Amino acid sequence: MFHYHQFDAIVVGAGGAGLMAALHASKSVNTAVISKLYPTRSHTGTAQGGISAALGNLEEDHWEWHAYDTIKGGDFLCDQDAVDIMCREAIDAVIELEHMGLPFDRTPDGKISQRRFGGHTNNETKKPVMRACHAADRTGHMILQTLYQNCIKNNVRFFDEFQVIDVLIEDGRCDGVVAVQLATGDIHVFHSKATLIATGGFGKMWKVTSNAHSLTGDLPAAVLRRGLPLEDMEFFQFHPTGVYKLGILLSEAARGEGAVFINGKGERFMARYMPTLKDLAPRDICSRCIYQEIREGRGVDGKDYVYLDFRPEVINRYFEEDGNPKRVDAHYLETRLPDIIEFARVYQGIDPIKEPVPIQPTAHYAMGGIPTDNDGRVLADETGRVIEGLYAAGEVACVSVHGANRLGTNSLVDLVVFGRRGGKHMAEYCKQASFRPINKDAAAKDGAAQLDRLRNSNGDERPSTIRKEMQAMMDDKVGVYRTGAGLEEALDKIHELQARYKRIRVEDKGYKWNTDLMEAWELGALLDLAEVTAFAALARTESRGSHYREDYPQRDDVNFLKHSLVWKNGTLTVKYKPVRITRIQPQERKY
Ligand code: FUM
Repeated sequence: MFHYHQFDAIVVGAGGAGLMAALHASKSVNTAVISKLYPTRSHTGTAQGGISAALGNLEEDHWEWHAYDTIKGGDFLCDQDAVDIMCREAIDAVIELEHMGLPFDRTPDGKISQRRFGGHTNNETKKPVMRACHAADRTGHMILQTLYQNCIKNNVRFFDEFQVIDVLIEDGRCDGVVAVQLATGDIHVFHSKATLIATGGFGKMWKVTSNAHSLTGDLPAAVLRRGLPLEDMEFFQFHPTGVYKLGILLSEAARGEGAVFINGKGERFMARYMPTLKDLAPRDICSRCIYQEIREGRGVDGKDYVYLDFRPEVINRYFEEDGNPKRVDAHYLETRLPDIIEFARVYQGIDPIKEPVPIQPTAHYAMGGIPTDNDGRVLADETGRVIEGLYAAGEVACVSVHGANRLGTNSLVDLVVFGRRGGKHMAEYCKQASFRPINKDAAAKDGAAQLDRLRNSNGDERPSTIRKEMQAMMDDKVGVYRTGAGLEEALDKIHELQARYKRIRVEDKGYKWNTDLMEAWELGALLDLAEVTAFAALARTESRGSHYREDYPQRDDVNFLKHSLVWKNGTLTVKYKPVRITRIQPQERKY
C-alpha cells in the first residue's frame, strides 16, 4: 500500500544531529523526523566519554586552543573555517543543552565538570587539558534523551521504524524521500521543501566495530546512487580501545581518568612513542602503536591484543610518575565510568578494578561522508555547487571538521553545532521556498519495485555469507594498516561480492517486519560504500591521520593536501578539492 505525506522540513535519522536539527527547524516550520529505529535507540546513545567545549571550568582553556588541537589531530586536512565555527559555537551549544535539562556531572562548586581526552591540550604547556563535559560515561545517552524530550515538547512529528530507501533528487534539487514502514511493508512518500540527512556512520563494513547493527550507510549509498559524490571516504577512524574480538567501545574517558595501555611485557608503551601526551595521544596514533607492539611480539601472551589498565593502584602509580597530584579509588572510577566497567564485567568476565582489560582497535567513526558547506547544505561537486533543499549533518556528513582523524568528543560537538546550524538554515530556506510538484505515484512504485526485486530474489547466495566475507576482508585489507596491493585485492573482492549479491536469495517473502529483506537491502548499501572506501584509499598514495599506507608512509602535502570526492556513475571516479586553510599552516605532528 502507498501513503503520501507533506512536511516543510524532513529529517532522516533521530540521533543527536537529527534531533538538534529537528528541534531548531520546528521552531518555525512544520517538521518531521523519520528513523529506522525508535529514536532513543539511535547510536548517539552509545557515545560515552564527553563533549568538548572550551568552558575553562577547571583550568585555563580557549576555543582557539580547541581549534588548533582539532586541526593538528586531523593531520591538517580539516577545513579551518568550519573548525573555528565548531569550536567557538561548542561553548554555547553545551550551555544550550544544559538549559534544556541535560544532567551534566558537576564540579564541587556546581559548574559543568570536565575531563581530559586524547589530543586535547593546553597549547602552551602541551599537556592534556580538561575540556570534555560529561555525564558519567553516558554523555551521548543523556544528549539523546534530552533532545528527544525537547522535540516532543516542540511537536516534532516522528515516524519511527521507517527505513528510507531513496532520496528524491532531480535537476539539482531535493523534494523528499521514499521510505518503507517496517511494521507493514507499506511504501511512504515524504514530500518536503527541505530534507536533512543525519543517519550517522557505516562501520558495519568491518567485523570488529563499535558500531551498532543499524549503521549500514543507507542514505550515503542512496545519494551516491542518485549521482552525488562522497567526500574523504578513505578516512575511517579505528578507536584504540574496543573490547577484544567484540569491538564494543570502552571509552577513552578511561584514559582521561588515568588508565594506561600495557603491553605483554608489562610496559606502558605509549611513553616511548609519544612522551608528552602518552596514552592521551590521538586515536590514529594510539591504534598504530598498539599494532606496532603486537607486530613486534609484545602483545599479551604473544597474541593480538594489549591491556587497558585502570586498576586504581596502577593509575595512581603513573599519576605519581607523571607528577599529577590527582588520586583515584574504586568508588571514584565506578562513579565516573560505570557503563564501561559493567561492559568489561558482562562481556569479558573481567573486573577492571581488579584486573587489566584486553583491548584491540575497533572500527569506530567515518570522517568522510556526504559533502556539505558550513550550514549543512549538500554539495554536488568540487566547485561547491549546492543541491537545493538537501542538507546533511553529524557523522554522515563531511563538513569537514575532522580532517583525516577526529579527536575524541568532537563527534558530539560536531552533531550539536552543525545539527543546529543545518536545522536553522533549512527553516529559513523553507520559509521562502515552495513545494515543487512531484510524481508521487512514480516515486512510490520505484521504491516498491526496488524492494520487490530483492524480495523475489531466488538465487543461490546468502546475504549473511557475503556480509561476513566483506567484513573479514575489510578488517584485513582496509584497516589500520593498508598497502596498494592489499587495497587492490580488496577492490577485486568487493567486485566479486557485488556480482554475487545480484544472485542472492531472500528467504522471507513477506511484508511485515521483513528484517531478512531489509538486511539484504542494507548489505547492498554497505558494499557500495566499501567499494568507494577502498577506491579512495588506493588513490591516496600518502599516509595521513587514520589512512596509513605502508607503501607510502609519509604525509605528502605537495600532492595530497586535498579532499577526495568519489562518484559512482557506472564506474568510480575521483576528483579533489583544496583544503581551506585560514590561520594554521600544516606542521609536523608531534605529541
Ligand atoms: O571514547 C569515547 O568515549 C568515544 C568518544 C568519541 O568517539 O568521541
